[in-house]
Amino acid sequence: MNVPTVHPVPDVPAVPVVLQAKNLVKRYGHVTALDGMDFELRADEVLAVIGDNGAGKSTLIKALAIVPDAGEIRLDGRLVRFGSPIEARLAGVECCYQDLAVAPAMTVAENLFLGRELRRAGFLGRCLRMLDRQKMIDVAGARMADLQVGIHSMTQTVETLSGGQRQCVAVARAAAFARHVVILDEPTAALGVKEGNMVLELIRRVRDKGLPVVLISHNMPHVFEIADRIHVARLGRRAAVLNPKKLSMSDAVAVMTGATAPENIPAEWQA
Ligand SMILES: Nc1ncnc2c1ncn2[C@@H]1O[C@H](COP(=O)(O)OP(=O)(O)OP(=O)(O)O)[C@@H](O)[C@H]1O
Ligand SMILES: [Mg+2]
Repeated sequence: MNVPTVHPVPDVPAVPVVLQAKNLVKRYGHVTALDGMDFELRADEVLAVIGDNGAGKSTLIKALAIVPDAGEIRLDGRLVRFGSPIEARLAGVECCYQDLAVAPAMTVAENLFLGRELRRAGFLGRCLRMLDRQKMIDVAGARMADLQVGIHSMTQTVETLSGGQRQCVAVARAAAFARHVVILDEPTAALGVKEGNMVLELIRRVRDKGLPVVLISHNMPHVFEIADRIHVARLGRRAAVLNPKKLSMSDAVAVMTGATAPENIPAEWQA
């Protein structure tokens, strides 16, 4: 008798995909920064995005928050089209950009509420547009304490903080207000070992609070320490999604530089 073979279905829990992009294209004049980039962020992860300079990493996160030339983006399964980073923010997607992190001359509280200042109640706020500074200081203090950032004065200007603390303010600003996704572009660049670890700890706490994090980084030890999966960007496309537990840093660099071609990536490296 011919008995059909039953292949057991691997017991992989279905984790929802929070943010998904398909076939993103972004051109700057003659330069094609994104050339059909796909992207997928799961609900419970830190997804690292790695790639050489110019691979399209920063453009990817900008395209997720600013309209790309082509392609589609889904947030929690729903098709979205953000006209500006503010619209992305209102939808619960917070970005911390590589090129504009914090305003040094402003206080910690002012930085946290930059672009979403709280106004006084009633006439003073509605008509005279007066800010509720005390409330912003109180809320900032509570959010920072919640994230265990270790910065206690919300009225201190950011220029008086260390590089690591400044970066923590930038990360905390994104984390404190995000409802769906936190996207961080090179948050540990130019930081010492101790300060870099401080930011990594913060990222871990954000993930453990239930917010998925996209971490763009050139720092392989940091990526391997914290990432659940690694999205490799190359020439404006996704070259692979790797499992950091199954390959070495030099394996990942080989995929990133193209020394290992996508068709030669072993199945067990992929996530
Ligand atoms: N505003 C812009 N105007 C023109 N070209 C741009 C602009 N932004 C990015 N590009 C180009 O798009 C390509 C991808 O740039 P992108 O900033 O996304 O790279 P990246 O992967 O973030 O690099 P890095 O590791 O250096 O941060 C590059 O060739 C870059 O020169
Ligand atoms: Mg960049």
